[in-house]
Amino acid sequence: MARQVPRHAHEGVLEPAVDRYLNALLPRRDSILAEMERLAKREDIPIIGPACGRLLALAVQVSGAKRIFEMGSAIGYSALWMARAAGRGAKIHYTDSDPRNVARARAFLRRAGVSSRVEMHQGDALDVLRKTSGMFDLIFIDVNKDQYPAALRLALGRLRRRGLLVADNVLWYGRVAHAAKRGDTSTRAIQEFNQKIYADKNLFPVIVPLRDGVAICRKG
Ligand SMILES: C[S@@+](CC[C@H](N)C(=O)[O-])C[C@H]1O[C@@H](n2cnc3c(N)ncnc32)[C@H](O)[C@@H]1O
Repeated sequence: MARQVPRHAHEGVLEPAVDRYLNALLPRRDSILAEMERLAKREDIPIIGPACGRLLALAVQVSGAKRIFEMGSAIGYSALWMARAAGRGAKIHYTDSDPRNVARARAFLRRAGVSSRVEMHQGDALDVLRKTSGMFDLIFIDVNKDQYPAALRLALGRLRRRGLLVADNVLWYGRVAHAAKRGDTSTRAIQEFNQKIYADKNLFPVIVPLRDGVAICRKG
């Protein structure tokens, strides 16, 4: 599969000095999150990073979400932020198509002591969501960017009323602000996703321009 994101996935739309400033304010992470961040940096794995991890954790805490579905979980970094924020009795559905990611995530989540809160699924996240029953309090979309419109359609039908839909990379390194180049299907798909969330009378979306842009939408 062709790489979808530019190298240095930690860089986003913010001016680099502002990005550095915000990151310097962040408290130190525990040894597991720190190890995951080092692995992601070394192997260029596009995790949400600590600033957006906190945003995700805040969304979980404020909404009280307990039943959470993540589409695209990689090594389990964002899943760990959500599992900790959701607390005991929560269930986070982890999904990734890459078996190596699943194995690494499983090991990290076990060491972090949250395995019992996380259900691991290997496979296409959209297929897994179709096959998993029930409604969710929060759905986090972080799959291939071309799939965002399809993921949105599917997720909306599986989100409970007052639930939160969260999506990463919705500013896509600023490319969404310009006409997509020929063949740039990722930018086009994210533009479509952003238009759809703001056009939907049943959603209340806000895009937070942190890192690469995070959309947080409350379902009415
Ligand atoms: C941006 S990374 C996820 C990062 C993770 N959410 C985090 O912040 O820690 C995207 C991951 O989704 C996986 N992926 C992409 N499209 C997928 C799909 N349709 N189904 C399952 N996994 C997918 C890729 O293998 C990759 O590991």
